[in-house]
Amino acid sequence: MRITLVTGANGEIGHSLLETLASKGNRTIIALDLAPLADDLKSLVSVFLQGDVSDPVMVAEIEKYDVVEIYHLAALLSTSSEKNPALAHHVNVNGTMGLLLMARRIGTRTGVPVTFLFPSTIAVYGMPSLDVKNSSGAVTEFEYLQPSTMYGINKVYCEQLGGYMSDRFGQLSDEAGKKVLDFRALRFPGLISATTVPTGGTSDYAPEMIHAAAQGKPYACFVRPDARIPFMAMPDGVKALLDLAAAPADRLTQRVYNIGAFSPSAEEIASKVQDAFPGAEITYAPHPKRQAIIDSWCADVDDSAARRDWGWSPDYDMQRAFEEYLIPTISGVYAL
Ligand code: SER
Repeated sequence: MRITLVTGANGEIGHSLLETLASKGNRTIIALDLAPLADDLKSLVSVFLQGDVSDPVMVAEIEKYDVVEIYHLAALLSTSSEKNPALAHHVNVNGTMGLLLMARRIGTRTGVPVTFLFPSTIAVYGMPSLDVKNSSGAVTEFEYLQPSTMYGINKVYCEQLGGYMSDRFGQLSDEAGKKVLDFRALRFPGLISATTVPTGGTSDYAPEMIHAAAQGKPYACFVRPDARIPFMAMPDGVKALLDLAAAPADRLTQRVYNIGAFSPSAEEIASKVQDAFPGAEITYAPHPKRQAIIDSWCADVDDSAARRDWGWSPDYDMQRAFEEYLIPTISGVYAL
C-alpha cells in the first residue's frame, strides 16, 4: 500500500484531508503533529508521530518509511509569523528544507519519485497600494510577488526551493538528472471550514464571523467592511490538493498554481452570515497591522493555469458554500 505522510495533521486542512484520504482507504497514512493527535483523527491514521517537523530526529524517524506522497501542511500562519518571525522562519523554511531533503533520500532509496504537495498562499502577493489592489483584477502566479509578511516571504521562497530541489539539486554532481522528487504547490486563498476554526491566520475573520454567529456570539471583525481577499470552502481546498497530487506530471506546465473560488468583501460575508443567522451581531474594529496585511494581499487570483493543466474547478461558489456546506454543517457542529 502506498504510504502517505501528512504533517500538521491537527490543523484545519489536516483534519479535512485526513478524513478524505482515509475514506479512500487505499493507503497507509502517517500523520505528524506537535500536539497529540485529535481524538476524531485517531482511527484514520496508521502511524502517528508527535513532534517537531524541523527536528532532525523526527525526520530520521519518518525516513524509515517508504513514503511516496507528502502533504506538508505544518506551518505558522501569517499573524502568528508576524508575532514570532524567527520561529516562523525556522518552522516554515527550515522545516520544509529538511523534509525536501528527506523526500529526496527516500526517492533515491526506493526508486519511486516522492510527490511533495505544498500549501502555499495568497500571502505571497504584495500589492503596492490599495489602488493597485482594487484595479489589478485577478493576478497571475507571476505578478506582485513582493510579500510584506514573514509568512509570505517563507512561502514564496519555499515555492522556489521545491522547484530547485526537484529539478536542479546537485546539478553539478552525479545525482543530477534522477527524478526522485516531484514538488507541487497550490496557492490557497483563505479557507473556511464548517467544522474547525483556524489559529494564527489573517484571513481568520471570515471563519471567525461564521462560527461566532452559529454559536449566537457577537463578533468584532478585525478588518474594514470593504476588505477583500479570495476565499474557498474547505472541501474545495482538499479536492484541489488531491487533484493536483493525482495529475500526470506531463500535464503540469508549472510547479505552483493559483486556485480561486470566490472573492467577497468582509461586508459581503457578514451579509451572508446575517441572512443565515438573523440577529447575528457583527461589528468592525479594524486592527491596523492585520488590516495592512489583508490590504497587501490580492483581491482575486487568476487560476486559468490550474484549470487548463489539471482541470481545476471549484464545486462551491459563495452561495453554494454557504447554503450547501457551511450553514447546514456548522449548525450541526454547535447543536451537539
Ligand atoms: N489563511 C492564511 C493566513 O491567514 C493565508 O494563507 O495566514
